[in-house]
Amino acid sequence: VTGDAAKGEKVFRKCKACHAVGEGAENKVGPVLNGVVDRAFGAVEGFSYSDALMEAAAEGKAWTPEELDAFLQKPRSYLKGTKMSFAGLRKDEDRANVIAYLASFPGE
Ligand code: HEM
Repeated sequence: VTGDAAKGEKVFRKCKACHAVGEGAENKVGPVLNGVVDRAFGAVEGFSYSDALMEAAAEGKAWTPEELDAFLQKPRSYLKGTKMSFAGLRKDEDRANVIAYLASFPGE
């Protein structure tokens, strides 16, 4: 991951309405994102994902940095039917930085 995690923390403000990370994080409108980098799609227990996301999960997809970059650019074009109502991050740099930030939170 080539981004800057400190800068990514600021970008993550755009995600915070729906997602939490860190110790004690819980699901909100969106699933907890601890450990999401390189994890399988749709893997957070107790979170009710869209059919679109679960279909991609069934294909064996994982949130590699490349997948995250594509998804976060335009979530609803990349994953038709996702219930993540977020326009996306237009700047390449913002996506790289937020991915670096997410990579700093390991899963359980
Ligand atoms: C799903 C990241 C902004 C709501 C996801 C997933 C990731 C992600 C990686 C897939 C998680 C998994 O498979 O376990 C981000 C990042 C954001 C952001 C980095 C900011 C740049 C938002 C916002 C909202 C939101 C603002 C609410 C308005 C959701 C929902 C899902 C989701 C509802 C589940 C999608 C589905 O089941 O189709 N997000 N998100 N996210 N996110 Fe976000």
